[in-house]
Amino acid sequence: MNVVRKVGILAPEAFGAATLLDTKDPMGLRATAPLLDAWIRDMETDRSPFQIPGHKGRTNLTGPIVDGDIPVLPGNHPYRISPSLILEAEKLAADLWGADLCRFGVNGSSGSNHAAVMAVAGPGDKVIVSRTLHKSVLVGMVYAGVIPVWVRPEINPATGLPEYLPSTRLKETIEANPDAKAVLIGEPSYVGTMSNIPRLAKVCHDAGIPLVVDAAWAAHYGFHPELPEHPLAEGADIVVTSAHKTLPAWSQASFVLVRKGLVDLDRFNKAFDSTQTTSMSGRILASIDASRALLQKHGYDLIDPIIDATEKGRATLVANGIDVIDGEYIDPLKLVILLPKTGADGNLVEQDLLKANIDVEMANRDLIIPMITFADTPELIEDLINRIIESVNRHRGEPRPIATAAAFSIIPEVVVSPRDAFFSKHEVVRAKDAVGRVSAEMICPYPPGVPVLSPGERITQEALDALFEARDSGVRIAFAADRTLETFVVLPQ
Ligand SMILES: Cc1ncc(COP(=O)(O)O)c(C=O)c1O
Repeated sequence: MNVVRKVGILAPEAFGAATLLDTKDPMGLRATAPLLDAWIRDMETDRSPFQIPGHKGRTNLTGPIVDGDIPVLPGNHPYRISPSLILEAEKLAADLWGADLCRFGVNGSSGSNHAAVMAVAGPGDKVIVSRTLHKSVLVGMVYAGVIPVWVRPEINPATGLPEYLPSTRLKETIEANPDAKAVLIGEPSYVGTMSNIPRLAKVCHDAGIPLVVDAAWAAHYGFHPELPEHPLAEGADIVVTSAHKTLPAWSQASFVLVRKGLVDLDRFNKAFDSTQTTSMSGRILASIDASRALLQKHGYDLIDPIIDATEKGRATLVANGIDVIDGEYIDPLKLVILLPKTGADGNLVEQDLLKANIDVEMANRDLIIPMITFADTPELIEDLINRIIESVNRHRGEPRPIATAAAFSIIPEVVVSPRDAFFSKHEVVRAKDAVGRVSAEMICPYPPGVPVLSPGERITQEALDALFEARDSGVRIAFAADRTLETFVVLPQ
C-alpha cells in the first residue's frame, strides 16, 4: 500500500499555530516574516499590474503555472516585496544566525558560491579549496580568475567516501602558501560527513584569512541539539546555504551569512549583486523569509521526530544487512545507504522506487541517498526504508569491494588557472590521446557534482579510469562536451 504524503506532523494545530483555514499561512508565520506577509497581502489584493512579469498574474493563459509569481517592486514599499522590505527580512535572518550580513538569493547556492569566491579573492590570487567542492565554486574561480590550491579530505576506507579535512593538513597547506587569500570548504560533504569547523576556522584566523563554508546542505543546522552547530556559530566567515535543499523553500532559494572582520561587507555585497538576476522572484525570496520564521518558531519540534525516524530507519537497514553511514560527525538527517556488501545494484533499486513513484536524491551502483527533511513524516520514512530493504533483497548478489568514488580519488595537478583554461583555444582529442594533456573542460560525475577534471588540470590515466568507472556504473557524467567520454576537450600543446 502506498503511504501518501499528508499533513502528518506538519499539522499546524500541534504547534499552536494558525488553523488550516488560513491556507496561505498554516503555521502562523506572517506576523514575524515581512516578505511572507507582503506576498500574502499581494495575493489577497486585486491588482492591475503594468509591469513585469508578463503574465500579469493571469492564470487563464498559461495556467496556474504562474500562480503567485510576483516581482520585487523597485522603490521602497513597507508592505510590498521591495528592496527595503528585503533588507528587513535579511536583517531578521542575520540576527537569528548571529551574522553581520545576510543576503537572500534566487540563484541557488551556485550563485551564492560565485559571489563568495569573488568576495574573498581576485585575478591571480591563490585560494585553498577542499576537493569536495561543488562545481559552482569552480565556476566562481573562473569568474574571479583565482588559482586553486587543492586540499584533500580524508577518505574513509570503509566507505570510499570523504570524511573530514584534517586541520593539520590545512595548516600545512596554508604555511606552504602564505599568500593564499582564503580557504573554501564544502561542509557537510555530499554524504553528510563533517570536518571540525572550529579547528579549521582557528587555523584560518591564525593566518589572518577567512574561512568560507559552502554549507548548501546545512541550512537546518543548529536548530536541534543532535544536529551539528551552524558553521557560522563555529567560526566560519562566510556561509553559503541552499534554503531549498533542507528547508521548505522554493527551488533556487539560497541565503548567505557573512561575518565582518576578515570579509569586506561592501565587496561581498557588490559580488553578490553581480550574481543575481535584476528580476528576482518575490515568491522565492518570501519562501526564504518564511523558512527562517518557521525554523525560528518551530525548528526543534519539526526536526525532532524526523531525526528520530531517520535514526530508526538506519537501525532497521543495518539489522537487515544493509550498511549506512553513521557516527558522531554526520548530519543525523542524512541517510546514505551503502550497497557494495549486499551485491545489489543501486540503479536497479532506484528503478523499483521509481516504479512506486518515489524519487531519490542520488542513486548509483554503490550508493542510494534519499533526501530527508522535516517536510517528511515518520510514516513516509518508514515506508521508504521498507521498500528499500525489499528491493535490495530482491537484487542481492556477490558482495563487491569498496571503490573510492571517482570524485574523491583524484590528486589534481593545476597547470594553468581555471579561468585561463576556460577562455583558452582548445582542441578535441580521443581518450587514448588525452593523458598528459591539459583539460579545457570541467567533468563531474553528478551527483555529487564534484569535479574529477577541472579546466586547467593535467589529465591523468587515474582521472580517466575514475571517470570511465563512474560512467560504467551508471553515474551521469555532467558538463563534459562528450558525455560518452570517447573524446576530451584539451588545451593546445
Ligand atoms: C555542496 C553544494 N554546493 C552548492 C550546490 C549548488 O546548490 P544550488 O542547487 O542551490 O545552486 C550544491 C548542489 O547540489 C551542492 O551540493
